[in-house]
Amino acid sequence: MTNTLLGGLSPSRFLRDVWHKRPLLIRNAVPNFAGLLTPHEMQQLACRDDVESRLVQGSGTEWQLDHGPFSKSDFKRLPTAEWTLLVQSLNHVLPEADALLARFDFIPHARLDDLMVSYAVPGGSVGPHFDSYDVFLLQGQGHRRWQISTQTDLALIDDAPLKILRHFEAEDEWVLGPGDMLYLPPHVAHYGVAEDACMTYSIGFRAPTAEEMAQGFLMHLQDSIKLEGRYADPDLRLQAHPGEIGRAMLDQIEAMIARIKWTRRDIAEFAGRYLSEPKPNVFFDAPEAPLGRAAFDRQANKDGVALNPKSRLLFTGKHFFINGEAFAPAADEVAALKQLADRRRLDAPLPSALRQRLYDWYEAGWLEIDAS
Ligand code: SIN
Ligand code: CO
Repeated sequence: MTNTLLGGLSPSRFLRDVWHKRPLLIRNAVPNFAGLLTPHEMQQLACRDDVESRLVQGSGTEWQLDHGPFSKSDFKRLPTAEWTLLVQSLNHVLPEADALLARFDFIPHARLDDLMVSYAVPGGSVGPHFDSYDVFLLQGQGHRRWQISTQTDLALIDDAPLKILRHFEAEDEWVLGPGDMLYLPPHVAHYGVAEDACMTYSIGFRAPTAEEMAQGFLMHLQDSIKLEGRYADPDLRLQAHPGEIGRAMLDQIEAMIARIKWTRRDIAEFAGRYLSEPKPNVFFDAPEAPLGRAAFDRQANKDGVALNPKSRLLFTGKHFFINGEAFAPAADEVAALKQLADRRRLDAPLPSALRQRLYDWYEAGWLEIDAS
C-alpha cells in the first residue's frame, strides 16, 4: 500500500532522506481530509481554562498576541481579516486528533509533542518565523499560502510579542488546500498566510536543549546520589590567612565532587522519567464515578483499554515509565506493556498479570476503557 501521508515514501526512506534534513511538500497527504473540528468548536475550546490558546492579530511589523482562555465576546469584536486563533494540544481533548497524531508514529513517541490547530481569517498569519522543532503542517479546510526559505539570517524584530523575522526572502511558495501537507525541519523560515478562512493542523515535536536536559539530569542526580563521608581535616596546618580557602580544602572538595558518578542505567532512568513527563499544564482527572475493580476487569476485558491521550508511556529495555514515574514490571507483564506503549491501546482479552496495574492507572485517569 502506498503511503499517501509521506507522498509515496516509505517511513524509512522519509527518515533517511527527508526527516530533519529538508522541507517536503506532500500534495493530498491525507485524501479527503476535511479537518477535525469547526471554527466554532475551536472557539469553544479556546474559552476553556484547561486548553492553551492564543490569538494573533496583525501583519508586517505590527503584531498583537493575546493568551486564552477567551470569552465569546472576544471573538465578536474581531475584524474580518488578519487574525489567527491557535489551540494547543488538540489531541488531549479530541479523540480524532489523537488518532491523527497516531499516524505519525514512525517517529518515536518520546519525540512527539502535540497537535496544534490554527484557524485564520483571510490574511491571517503568525508572521514569517522559524521554529526550533520539526513540524508537519497539514491543511484542513480552506487554503493557506506557504512561503519558505532556508536563509541563514534568522534575526528577529525587536520588541514584537512573537518571533517575527526581520528579513524574509521566500525561496519557494505553494498554496495548500485540504489534505495537503508541508514538512519542515527545524530552522527553515516559513510564512503562512490564509488565502480564505482556513485551518492548519501542526504536528509538532519535542527537542529539549542540551541545557534543559542537563538541568533535568542534575535534578535527577540530586535525588538519586548517595555519597558517604563528610569534610575532614585531621592534618590541618596553620594558615597565614584564616580568610583564605586553601589548596588542601579545594583538593578535598574536588575529590568529593569527583565521586559523583553515573552509569548508563542512571541515564536511562532519567531519560525515561524526563521524556514521559507531561507538560506542566497537563492535569489528569480521575473518573467521576469509577468502576470497582471487578466491574473494571469485566468491562476492560470485553472492550480493551486505551491510554488517556495525555498519558505518556515509554520504555527502555525492561524499564518502563509513565507520566514521569518509573516502574519495573514483572516478566509476564512486559510484552503487553510494550504493546500498550507502542499502540497506546490493548485489545481484549487483557493479560491477568496486568490487571491491577491497569486498574490503578484507570483510577488515576491515566487510562480508559477503550471506547473506539
Ligand atoms: C499556523 O498554523 O498559522 C502557524 C503554524 C506555524 O507556522 O508553525
Ligand atoms: Co512555525
